[in-house]
Amino acid sequence: MSVAEAAFPVARPRRLRRTPTLRRLVAETTVEARQLVLPAFVREGISEPVPISSMPGVVQHTHDSLRRAAAEAAELGLGGIMLFGVPEWKDARGSGAVDPDGILNVAIEEVVSEVGDALPVMADLCLDEFTDHGHCGLVAPDGSVDNDSTLEVYAAMALAQASAGVDLVGPSGMMDGQVGVIRAALDAAGHTDVAILAYSAKYASAFYGPFREAVDSSLQGDRRTYQQDGGNVREGVREALLDVAEGADLVMVKPALAYLDVIRAVRDAVDVPVAAYNISGEYSMLEAAAANGWIDREAAILETLTSIRRAGADVTLTYWAAEVARLLRAAR
Ligand code: PBG
Repeated sequence: MSVAEAAFPVARPRRLRRTPTLRRLVAETTVEARQLVLPAFVREGISEPVPISSMPGVVQHTHDSLRRAAAEAAELGLGGIMLFGVPEWKDARGSGAVDPDGILNVAIEEVVSEVGDALPVMADLCLDEFTDHGHCGLVAPDGSVDNDSTLEVYAAMALAQASAGVDLVGPSGMMDGQVGVIRAALDAAGHTDVAILAYSAKYASAFYGPFREAVDSSLQGDRRTYQQDGGNVREGVREALLDVAEGADLVMVKPALAYLDVIRAVRDAVDVPVAAYNISGEYSMLEAAAANGWIDREAAILETLTSIRRAGADVTLTYWAAEVARLLRAAR
């Protein structure tokens, strides 16, 4: 081959990148409104939404502002809304979580009555928003987080959420056996149609930081006896397989960005839909960089969500869900 021939390649991948429509034609991965789920916080006892300072653009909702956010999410064609409650009073047992008049259960009822079947309504099923010590389960006298007594509370919480009309419960406490116990409790009470979105591979992560402000939680100690160690991929797959065996309808990997390989491994290992949670700290670091003018905000958001989808997520929970759905609509 002469030097001249080597300088003029036959294979030219750039041909398919020449125009936006050619690029669109061959796009392997797209982000769509229907697969994005908006996490939303609702706080008891406030009359105006409260901004979360570490998550610019995200608020703790009032009952009314949550209803409006849910209606907008439905109108935008989002995949769903994931509700978190911020109670006025917390105690050691997280009593507000099982109380039918507790903030989260009331909010589920209100949102369901607002959107009906136009938007799947999901709720976080965990005690950390409701306990004064900030742990996801009950704390034993020796200071450990007790697995099996916590399961009983999770079962009661699932029934309270189901009675309020939730479509999917999202157990996120990483107690062993939580999915099986919740499935059995729901079925025994006739809630066979309530689905379980299991936070299956959930890692002990520094990126949950801003979430603590979002739910007014100050954690005593850490979550490392129940959330997973960041270096373990096989263990994440094992957790997902266990949850599927226990009856999970979807399994989730969380966080997303530092765990893209886990999303891929779980996607390849199970045949239920896989969700990924683009969490608070992932949101905040991108927003902080954008606020400083260091990155192009919208492009970075879309690139982030594309990467999560490319890794294998069928469903993505993201605080940018509504904004991205608006952007995608405007781009059409
Ligand atoms: C547990 C829960 C957490 C998040 C969702 N569900 C916190 C934790 O497990 O420490 C974090 C979500 C986020 O950071 O955006 N109730």
